[in-house]
Amino acid sequence: MEQMNLQKTILLVFGTRPEAIKMCPLIRELKDRPFFRTLVCVTGQHRAMLDQVLNLFQITPDYDLDIMKDNQTLFDITTNVMKGMKPILEDVRPDIVLVHGDTSTAFATALSCFYLQIPVGHVEAGLRTYNKYSPYPEEFNRQAVGIISSFHFAPTNISRKHLIREGKEEKYIFVTGNTAIDALKTTIRENYYHPELEWSKDSRMILITAHRRENLGKPMYNMFYAIRKVLEEHEDVKAIYPIHLNPTVRQAAKDVFGESSFGGREERLHLIEPLDVLDFHNFMKAAYLTLTDSGGIQEEAPFLGKPVLVMRDTTERPEGIEAGTLKLVGTDKEEIYKVFTELLDNREIYERMVHASNPYGDGQASARIADILEFGYTKR
Ligand code: UD1
Ligand code: UDP
Repeated sequence: MEQMNLQKTILLVFGTRPEAIKMCPLIRELKDRPFFRTLVCVTGQHRAMLDQVLNLFQITPDYDLDIMKDNQTLFDITTNVMKGMKPILEDVRPDIVLVHGDTSTAFATALSCFYLQIPVGHVEAGLRTYNKYSPYPEEFNRQAVGIISSFHFAPTNISRKHLIREGKEEKYIFVTGNTAIDALKTTIRENYYHPELEWSKDSRMILITAHRRENLGKPMYNMFYAIRKVLEEHEDVKAIYPIHLNPTVRQAAKDVFGESSFGGREERLHLIEPLDVLDFHNFMKAAYLTLTDSGGIQEEAPFLGKPVLVMRDTTERPEGIEAGTLKLVGTDKEEIYKVFTELLDNREIYERMVHASNPYGDGQASARIADILEFGYTKR
């Protein structure tokens, strides 16, 4: 008699650096469980920045849509992901597809699943600003994925409440913590060494990242001019900026910080290529503070007890603000200059932000999600 196949086929789909960082621990967990046939599809929305993470976690995708092109538009990403996903979904017919967060990869994949009536599980569900233009297009993407999803893996109680208020069925919402912490628990090293940290070790080191679509153009120039002014006024400060591969971001940085900073060296600001996540986490740990418009970094900072100035008008991570580690500074040049200066000059204000706390879980989010998919519940 033919053996019944009780294995559940799970397809995880992602395409950008932050999704990869937060999905790789889950892939490892699922692959360790014989109950699952675990398949991985990357859209290649990012290329080098995605491959860095896949290499670190030693994940070889089963499918790669390889869609990235320079200065891609939202139309490019959405249509190319959908065209690429259709034959894979039709061929594999997974029991469930897992997507992460709020990228266009997540949105276009969820929509493709919906068209084929394949269930979707949303990892990092329920983050909200309720302002559809901030962050853009991410707020729309995650709300849309939420509508399509059958299972919602919410990192915190706040995100759970958003989902309940929106009418999602409570029995399909699970508070798991954020898999970002699972990743972070594997990367911090006691005796970490890097030449850039050697260079900055006698200073207060500032770590910088920026890339949000809604900040491209004037807001990004504002950020960079404010940072440049503060650096000029504080000789004991050095800054390291692992710059995003987006050509528009690179042009703005070149315009403000100077051509020579690429490859060459500004006196107290080093613009460097994107760091591997293991390096980046250890840089964060060594930093005096971080300036960013990133989402994921806002989750990592409270765990590390490292102050972050968030150069955005809104945040979907109120937990970090409550914990006191994050301050929302917007994108106005004078405001960034003022708050950044204050934080460097006023020890008391700085110390108030330096408190390690961890609103995003205990590093077992992946195991919880896997439990729920395998048994329907988790005891952790
Ligand atoms: C995307 C996500 C954003 C996430 C961010 C993480 C969307 C709409 N945006 O934004 O939510 O916060 O990733 O970084 O899904 N590039 C490369 N190599 C790479 C990666 C990017 O050259 O490895 C360049 C390409 O020119 C690409 C551009 O960066 O066209 C922008 O990439 P894209 O994924 O469209 O937008 P992000 O700003 O990275
Ligand atoms: N990160 C990294 N290398 C870098 C900068 C950031 O590995 O040079 C990591 C960081 O630790 C975090 C994630 O990338 O986990 C954040 O990605 P990004 O800011 O691109 O996207 P967002 O989180 O805003 O979606």
